[in-house]
Amino acid sequence: MEIINNPQELQTLSLMLRAEGKKVALVPTMGFFHEGHLSLMDAARRQADVVIVSLFVNPTQFGPNEDLDAYPHNLERDAKLAEEHGVDILFTPTRDDMYYEDHSTWVEVPDLAANLCGKSRPVHFRGVATVVTKLFMTAQPHVAVFGEKDWQQLAIIKRMVRDLNIPVDVQGHPIVREESGLALSSRNVYLTEDEKKKAPMIQQGLRQMRDAVDKGKNNAAELKEELAAFYSREIPGSRVDYIEIVHPGSIENLDIIEGPALCAVAVHVGKARLIDNLLIKV
Ligand code: PAF
Repeated sequence: MEIINNPQELQTLSLMLRAEGKKVALVPTMGFFHEGHLSLMDAARRQADVVIVSLFVNPTQFGPNEDLDAYPHNLERDAKLAEEHGVDILFTPTRDDMYYEDHSTWVEVPDLAANLCGKSRPVHFRGVATVVTKLFMTAQPHVAVFGEKDWQQLAIIKRMVRDLNIPVDVQGHPIVREESGLALSSRNVYLTEDEKKKAPMIQQGLRQMRDAVDKGKNNAAELKEELAAFYSREIPGSRVDYIEIVHPGSIENLDIIEGPALCAVAVHVGKARLIDNLLIKV
């Protein structure tokens, strides 16, 4: 596995590989790999000749009081895991490699960013869309693979690619969970032992909501209220950022569940802000 820091070098190499007829896949990450990341690398490996993984903690997607400086990292361990999963190129640029001091070009998808995480993290998706565009331009992939835990992010990237005619096949892959049901996240490292025991209730609550919908309940306000009560009972001390039921494509709130719906939540448990979601197929 080759480690490249320089964006220009990666772009030149990738263009050369494409010219040789190689299919290139990119897995964009912020590192501190867990099984979720590794499953994306495996999915990329199954379909491409060359797998590039980018590891870059992108400062522009963090707000002023967020965990940019505390974001967990372990390059040595990540490089070993990536290599074990057949990654060909690990792209590890520095902040200066990625952004000029006077960087002033932004990519925004305001409609899809208005709800859920975009509401509580106002600059987040502008930073994500911008850095993913830069990564696409740099790595020149045919295919890019993202996790469905960040469902809104995936929807935004798919819309961005469509609207800007970016020739990348954007693929989503299912959430990987611990046996307890807790969605894997690099931020789970912030949880204490006790919080880790309670955090799986986030998914448990979503499943209960789906069961209620299966039994015919379809009023979103009532379902959301029940879920909020479940969280305050089962995860004492937690703080709900949002519980929403949205259309999976437009990310707009639904009042009544009559077709496919995404129930998405963000819950603060101790120092961690955890997101999760469940697609409800009616
Ligand atoms: O999902 C992530 O880890 C990040 O938002 C991404 C897509 C790598 C952009 O920084």
